[in-house]
Amino acid sequence: MKVSPLDVRGHWVVVTGASSGLGREMATQLVKEHGANVVAVARRRDRLEALAQELHDGTTRVHPIVADLAKSADVARVFSEAVAVGEVRGAVLNAGVTYYGHTLDQDMPSFDNLLATNVTALVHLCQSFSKYFVHKKNSGGVLLISSMAGFAPLPYQAAYAATKAFVTSYGRSLAYELKGKGPSVSVFAPGGIATEMLELSGLSRKFSAGDVGIMSADECARIALEGFKKRRVLTVPGASNKLMAAGMKLAPNGVLMPAIARIYEGSLPEPKQDQ
Ligand SMILES: NC(=O)c1ccc[n+]([C@@H]2O[C@H](COP(=O)([O-])OP(=O)(O)OC[C@H]3O[C@@H](n4cnc5c(N)ncnc54)[C@H](OP(=O)(O)O)[C@@H]3O)[C@@H](O)[C@H]2O)c1
Repeated sequence: MKVSPLDVRGHWVVVTGASSGLGREMATQLVKEHGANVVAVARRRDRLEALAQELHDGTTRVHPIVADLAKSADVARVFSEAVAVGEVRGAVLNAGVTYYGHTLDQDMPSFDNLLATNVTALVHLCQSFSKYFVHKKNSGGVLLISSMAGFAPLPYQAAYAATKAFVTSYGRSLAYELKGKGPSVSVFAPGGIATEMLELSGLSRKFSAGDVGIMSADECARIALEGFKKRRVLTVPGASNKLMAAGMKLAPNGVLMPAIARIYEGSLPEPKQDQ
């Protein structure tokens, strides 16, 4: 069955995590190249206001919502405020955090924040917007930003990889359930991207912009939005990432895990606890 592309021109698209990195790029391209109005969600008000000012061109609109998606009340408010702004046609659920280091050194508040942001908020908003699209019969779309980290267990990003495995599995399952019902759910699973996440997590000790396999946020956003508009169930950007994703799925864990661990060797923080 032929699927009609997602048309966002002149419609509202919600982008979470729009204050930096991939989310900021997707919000910018949605406005500048796809003619969408954007509801931009994140915690940092100054960043959202700067984005709104930068993208203001007299026709398209950017509506900032300052929210901490690790808090359930904020998540509920994001949905109710977004649908009050205008008819929403898309939701790009991109906000995410990682933890890089020895897994036993990740304290529980950090884990709770990771789970709430990467999983609970994403499911809540995905369910709310998908039901809204069905109810409105507006054939909207949800884009879930996952990661190649979700394709295999990842030593030293154990909890993060598990959240992304959840996102990919959940998104693909829901996409199947919604087939033929109008709205679409798409999953985007990139490899490394040159964003603040690398700095914040300490991964920049190993990877930096310009390294082989690290994409620019601009290029990644372009491919993510193409998959979103074409309502593709799963998009992995770039030939080398596709090859690596296939390897991650096929290689036995006994080969894969030491290979991944070797990549991180030399860039890990000193363990905090006796291990
Ligand atoms: N960078 C990579 O190598 C890479 C690779 C694969 C997948 N990804 C995925 O891509 C997505 C975007 O990451 P990025 O690389 O662009 O990182 P980033 O530059 O650090 O951006 C993360 C965004 O998420 C928002 N965010 C984090 N916690 C939040 C919370 N509790 N409430 C609301 N917003 C929150 C941040 O905004 P505030 O801080 O202003 O709240 C920020 O806008 C994530 O889902 C990430 O897992 C990244």
